[in-house]
Amino acid sequence: DTPTPLGFRIREDEYLIVEGGRIREFRKDPPRDVAGTDYRDYTGKIIIPPFCDMHLHGPQFLQRGLGMERELIGWLNDYTFPREARFSDPEYARRAYEPFVDALSRSGTLRSCIFGTLHREGTLILAELLEERGLQAFVGKVNMDSNSPDYLREEGHVSLEETKRFIDDMARYENVRPIITPRFVPSCSGELLRGLGDLAEERDLPVQSHLCETEREIAWVRELFPDHRGYTHVYEEAGLLRRGKSFMAHGIYLEEDDLDRIGRTGTVLVHCPDSNLNLASGIMDVTGLLDRGIPVILGSDVGGGHELAMNRVIVSALQSSKIRVKLTGEGRALTHEEAFHMATMGGGFLWEDRGCFKEGHFFDALVIGDDLPFGGDMPPLDKLYRYLYTGEDRHIHAFYGEGRIL
Ligand code: GUN
Ligand code: FE
Repeated sequence: DTPTPLGFRIREDEYLIVEGGRIREFRKDPPRDVAGTDYRDYTGKIIIPPFCDMHLHGPQFLQRGLGMERELIGWLNDYTFPREARFSDPEYARRAYEPFVDALSRSGTLRSCIFGTLHREGTLILAELLEERGLQAFVGKVNMDSNSPDYLREEGHVSLEETKRFIDDMARYENVRPIITPRFVPSCSGELLRGLGDLAEERDLPVQSHLCETEREIAWVRELFPDHRGYTHVYEEAGLLRRGKSFMAHGIYLEEDDLDRIGRTGTVLVHCPDSNLNLASGIMDVTGLLDRGIPVILGSDVGGGHELAMNRVIVSALQSSKIRVKLTGEGRALTHEEAFHMATMGGGFLWEDRGCFKEGHFFDALVIGDDLPFGGDMPPLDKLYRYLYTGEDRHIHAFYGEGRIL
């Protein structure tokens, strides 16, 4: 595990005692003396924290790989919006979300921040399926009242009312909670954004959206909000930048004014390397941001990203960062420790006592099997690297959430 981004912590051949879903202690000798112990031997395997995917779109699971010859706005208009509109039908939503939630669980993602669609009912079905699976998630009903096709748009006041109902309906779930989800600035009026900011404050809810993903979108925001200093200013003024509770995806093209506001408000950025490459959006300066003290964590951004498995998203973040350094001749490359920290501890902003193995923390874990092409006696860290780069669902031998097998 990576309690800090500075290095991996390896406990070789130790025993971990779990009680009431939490880690009680670590010990060197076998715990055979503890009465009533359910003892499991994972010799030869590695045990790592499960992943958190802090930005993805449930409805877009079905469109992975499609429309990748387009850039963002064309991809949204021609591929994404027509497909998201189908989620107005709850039957369709259930059929589409079942394989999504199944795949999310099989890929070892325990915690996530997920966009549904603007449809309240369909998005509640997504939440229900996640809860049934024992996954922990923040799920958002998307808000869109502007610059969107008639078939995927609500009136501002309806959008706000439906969001309130959605939040109330979500109270029936324990591990799946609501998050305020304006799609991005162009799809929301200033009034709707402010209404959502007020709602986030009133109900003390986290916020997720997109920020400065492409230059074209940023120019569009300037046209739509000419009185504002920029994209980030629009969110800030609406009250949508909440300390440690606002998760803004992409942040590729940030100017000094944006960076100031992000830093000052404690906004968290979510790096989505696959999506940034697929839609030719650009390459985020992850290490530049981290070194400035801005928190950056990881997201798959399925379906802009094609890959749900966060081990592969870690690799993509590393590849993007190395090639950025090579092409610009500036900055430093992201380290494996940093990328793993972002993908496992990144949920710590929303979930406490998780993300690394520590006494008192919940025992959440992935047991990675020794059926990888390991060559048998590789050291644990080599096994981890091999898993990150080549591992597939089938290499996850067991998945624990709060001490229970999921
Ligand atoms: N900006 C607004 N909507 C979206 C979306 O669905 N995906 C991505 N990557 N960016 C967006
Ligand atoms: Fe996204």
